[in-house]
Amino acid sequence: MLLDVRDLHVEFRTRDGIAKAVNGVTYSVDAGETLAVLGESGSGKSVTAQAVMGILDMPPGRITGGEVLFQGRDLLKLKEEERRKVRGAEMAMIFQDALSALNPVLTVGDQLGEMFVVHRGMSKKDARARAVELMDRVRIPGAKERVRQYPHQFSGGMRQRIMIAMALALEPALIIADEPTTALDVTVQAQVMELLAELRRELNMGLILITHDLGVVADVADRIAVMYAGRIVESSPVHDIYKAPAHPYTRGLLDSIPRLDQKGQELYAIKGLPPSLLNIPPGCAFHPRCPMARDVCRTDVPPLYEVSEERGSACHFWRECLHG
Ligand SMILES: Nc1ncnc2c1ncn2[C@@H]1O[C@H](COP(=O)(O)OP(=O)(O)O)[C@@H](O)[C@H]1O
Ligand code: SF4
Ligand SMILES: [Mg+2]
Repeated sequence: MLLDVRDLHVEFRTRDGIAKAVNGVTYSVDAGETLAVLGESGSGKSVTAQAVMGILDMPPGRITGGEVLFQGRDLLKLKEEERRKVRGAEMAMIFQDALSALNPVLTVGDQLGEMFVVHRGMSKKDARARAVELMDRVRIPGAKERVRQYPHQFSGGMRQRIMIAMALALEPALIIADEPTTALDVTVQAQVMELLAELRRELNMGLILITHDLGVVADVADRIAVMYAGRIVESSPVHDIYKAPAHPYTRGLLDSIPRLDQKGQELYAIKGLPPSLLNIPPGCAFHPRCPMARDVCRTDVPPLYEVSEERGSACHFWRECLHG
């Protein structure tokens, strides 16, 4: 297994108390595989990714338990210097907002080239040639000329391609893309998603795709991990989840996807809001919003029940959900 996150716990000390952002997350991704991590805003998706990448804000963040096994090594046990070597070269991250992730005063060629100068000891000229190659690879038209331009001279979609090129530069084994298309319009979203999927196949990388939009992952993900209040509530091969979700929260997410054949009908929305992580409801954290909730849900935290060999659900009534 390329990446194995086991029972990860992260909290934040804030003025208002301790925010339990990640509460025992376990997920894994293999080479050549795409794992989609799905959940509403505030469910702990980014914090989990930051802990994996080693870019968590500490303090106020604190990893209070768990392991992050990458190619067999627990990254949480490495010194910062070793950690830095892993970051960039072996795992890289793509963020939602390319404009703030890229340096506004450097040309994209200089930024891409820098990866090769710093990490591979290349000359500036060779690095520039590699930068053009990378831009071609992420299909930026006119790469040879545009390599001299600054980030603000590119459209949102093209900037996102540049960030993908940065992440790919050193051919990492794992890429974590955190809402990479959320800021883009729908057509461009699909193109960027398709590009990521293609590069993942070509380079046999592992890809973690974080999104709040179940609609964008169907065609690109192999597995889905659904997060709620800092926990994985359902984990499943992608086709099984679309056929029949085994958790009421997943069902709610599926029912809220706009569908072409239902134009004009009112869209379903899960009632209420996700809980504050300062104050997670007892029992099943989803119970205040769950249409299937019963007494036991208010007191007993559901473990991740085994639905099948490849599938888990943290719902006491997963059978009913699956067959309902
Ligand atoms: N820097 C921070 N300081 C304090 N709390 C934070 C910080 N970053 C994240 N959190 C807490 O962690 C929660 C989960 O955040 P995040 O992982 O970014 O959610 P998601 O990516 O699923 O939208 C936030 O709602 C907040 O309570
Ligand atoms: S455990 Fe209960 S509240 Fe939680 S998702 Fe299942 S039915 Fe709903
Ligand atoms: Mg996030």
